[in-house]
Amino acid sequence: MENSAPDAPYLLVLNGPNLNRLGMREPAYYGRSTLPEIVADLERIAAAADPPLRLEHRQSNHEGTLVDTIQALGPDAIGIIINPGALTHYSIALRDALADVGTPAIEVHLSNIHAREEFRHRSVIAPVAVGQIAGLGADGYRLALRYFLDMQAGCAR
Ligand code: DQA
Repeated sequence: MENSAPDAPYLLVLNGPNLNRLGMREPAYYGRSTLPEIVADLERIAAAADPPLRLEHRQSNHEGTLVDTIQALGPDAIGIIINPGALTHYSIALRDALADVGTPAIEVHLSNIHAREEFRHRSVIAPVAVGQIAGLGADGYRLALRYFLDMQAGCAR
């Protein structure tokens, strides 16, 4: 079952609308890496960490599917890395789902949303996230992963 919770500690990595198009989509903003490349890189880093961590990655273009995934996989995850795409700017449903599960979440954006159109400056997700990383390209996902790996190592030692 796609959304049944796995047993070993895991991190939920969630990507929202249009992020399946990374690599092809507006590379001046989003770079040339594809989503499978970014996820494979994160999986390699997480597997090599001490202690290692599993990643559960989901991408959806649908708000409700993202909410379903947060409800199903969020409560047992040690953390959530989420790039909500355009939903960042208006999805109260996504924000409420994150607030409800209470699992620490880091919001990641490839582009610097604060340096772009005004409608991108506001994030309705940020107030329920531990923090936000924007403008560092795919490095933003790696930095968010580093935060959770350090958190997990701190808890385990
Ligand atoms: C994005 C920024 C959003 O404003 C945009 O709608 C996206 C991608 C980013 O990663 O920079 O789809 O979340």
